Amino acid sequence: MTNFLRVRDVSSDAFNWMIDQAIAIKANPDKWSDALKGKTLAMIFQKTSTRTRFSFEAGMTELGGHAIFAQTQHTQMGIADISDEGKVISRYADLIMARMVYNRDLVALADGSEVPVINGCDDRYHPAQALTDLMTVKEKLSRTKDVKVVYMGVANNVSNSLSMATIYAGGRFTLCTPEFDPPAIDEEQLAALHANPMYEETADPVVAMKDADVVYTDTWINMEHFSNPEYAAEKERRVATFQPYQVNENLLKFSGKETLVMHCLPAHKGYEVNDTVLYTPNSVIFDQAENRLHAQKALMLYLLGKL
Ligand code: CP
Ligand code: NVA
Repeated sequence: MTNFLRVRDVSSDAFNWMIDQAIAIKANPDKWSDALKGKTLAMIFQKTSTRTRFSFEAGMTELGGHAIFAQTQHTQMGIADISDEGKVISRYADLIMARMVYNRDLVALADGSEVPVINGCDDRYHPAQALTDLMTVKEKLSRTKDVKVVYMGVANNVSNSLSMATIYAGGRFTLCTPEFDPPAIDEEQLAALHANPMYEETADPVVAMKDADVVYTDTWINMEHFSNPEYAAEKERRVATFQPYQVNENLLKFSGKETLVMHCLPAHKGYEVNDTVLYTPNSVIFDQAENRLHAQKALMLYLLGKL
C-alpha cells in the first residue's frame, strides 16, 4: 500500500508515469469513466479549500466512484485519537485524502489508515499540487527534462513538493528565497537536493530568473494564518521581506526568454504576484488549476492499482 504524503513516497518512475497518464486522461476522460466504480474517497479537511476539494470530488465522480466530504470540526477527530479515527474511516473508504494543518497529524492519520492516504496540503508539503504542476509544465512545454523552474518567494509546503517533483521529472529547480517558512524545513530532503547539480538556491531574483522556463510563486502566508490576530506582526514582516520577490513584468524581463507564470492559487494580487502578470498570455494558472482534476484522477487510479 502506497501513501502520497510527500512526492518522495513514490518513485520518480511512478511520478513520471502519473504525469503522462494525467495528460492521457485529460485527452480522453471517457476511457476511465467506470474505472473506480463502487469506490469511495473520504476527503477530510481541517482547513479551507477550493481547488483541492472540487478537483478530487469531481474527479472521483468522473471515475465512476463517490467522494465523502468532511470538515474535521464536524467529525470526532478533535476529541479522539487521530490514528484510530483514520483506521475507522479506512474501513468505510478505499482511499483517504486529508488536508491537515500539521504534517504530524496527517502522518498519524496515515499510520492508522488501512487504505492509501493522500496529502491534500499540510504545513510541510502539497504533493498533489506538485503532480499537477509538472503535468502542466509537460503539457505546455512538451517536456520536463532540463526545463528550468524557478520558485520565487517564501520556501514553504508548495516549494518543498515542487522542488522534488521538478527534480523527479528531470528538470532544473532554482529556489529563490531569503528564508524558509519554519515548519517547512525538511533537512532530509534539503540534504538530497543540495547534493543534486540540478538544484540551486539563491536569494537574488535577478540571478534566479536567468533562462527561466517557468517562474512559480505562492502566498507569503499560509491559509491558516490569514485571520489569526497573533500572526499579524509576522504577516506585516513577511509583506516587507518578500516584496522584492513579487512576480511582475519587471522580474520576467530578467529571464531573457519567454517564461511561463505559474501559481497554485489562491493568489494575493499585489503581493506575491501582480495582476498584470497573472492575466498575461504567459500565465498558465487557470489551466494549471483545471489540471488538478486530471492529475488527481491519475493519482487516485495509481494508488488504487488501476493504472
Ligand atoms: N491550490 C490549492 O490547493 O487550492 P485550494 O487551497 O483552493 O485547494
Ligand atoms: N502555501 C499555501 C498553499 C495553498 C494551496 C498555503 O498553505 O496556504
